[in-house]
Amino acid sequence: MPLATPDFEFLQHLVAKRSGNVIAPRQQQMIEQRLQKVLVSTGLDNVDTLMTELKGTRGHTLQDRVAEAITVNETSFYRDAHLFQAMRTYFIPEAMQRNAATRTIRIWCAAGSSGQEPYSMAMVLRDHFPQLDRWNVDILVTDLSEEMLERSRNGIYSQLEVNRGLPARDLVRFFDRRGSRWQVKSELRSMLRHQRLNLIDPFPPIHAVDIVLIRNVLIYFDQPTRQSILNRIGKVLTPDGHLFIGSAETMIGMNLPYERKVIDGTVCYQT
Ligand SMILES: C[S@@+](CC[C@H](N)C(=O)[O-])C[C@H]1O[C@@H](n2cnc3c(N)ncnc32)[C@H](O)[C@@H]1O
Repeated sequence: MPLATPDFEFLQHLVAKRSGNVIAPRQQQMIEQRLQKVLVSTGLDNVDTLMTELKGTRGHTLQDRVAEAITVNETSFYRDAHLFQAMRTYFIPEAMQRNAATRTIRIWCAAGSSGQEPYSMAMVLRDHFPQLDRWNVDILVTDLSEEMLERSRNGIYSQLEVNRGLPARDLVRFFDRRGSRWQVKSELRSMLRHQRLNLIDPFPPIHAVDIVLIRNVLIYFDQPTRQSILNRIGKVLTPDGHLFIGSAETMIGMNLPYERKVIDGTVCYQT
């Protein structure tokens, strides 16, 4: 049964407050599908019961769960392949040159979803920069969704997921077969560090990072929220570090301390 308008509006408000994501009226059907998933995972009988619980005073954990369930988690390996090529040809060598004294590279995937993006970074590093074995490489993966973080930690993907963007040679080299699915080898899994982080909240202390990927998440926020997030990220980026946003995202119209550059065909931002 379709959601009643007041319930849909309540959910729009709840999601905006908890995750900052803006839900458009045309997304009502998607919301209804996601609520069905919440019903299954909570064991609640129906949407009416769920709505009553959500509106109750003790519904905070449930509210977070619903807000997380309503986020869009779409991702794939080597999404926007040119970015990962440019990592190989320019951005990683440049960071290595800059950090030769400390032998440390810090990367932050700020909306890592189920892990395809950070594992793509890890594969580039392992494949093309064997000398980094003797470096301290820190890939921090954060996301709002505990469920996505858990998927990323486990690194287990369906055939369909590995078919999306992962070259056969990487599958052979970096994955083990697990029945009908594939698991990222532990040598790669151990390169990632996972942490739940809601981008709309004040950030916890984060060590200055050389490379930040915050891709395909800004589109879900309103302009002031985007601006606030990007401003705060600017403060954790090292002075010569690089920030990457999604190919459909832009900083146009925002008052931000970044300079836009195109390097090896890839758009990046520096403070
Ligand atoms: C579409 S995915 C993008 C994944 C990956 N960066 C990519 O480009 O393929 C968006 C991710 O942002 C996360 N997200 C949405 N709102 C968030 C918030 N307020 N704080 C942190 N992560 C959020 C979602 O849980 C989801 O995993």
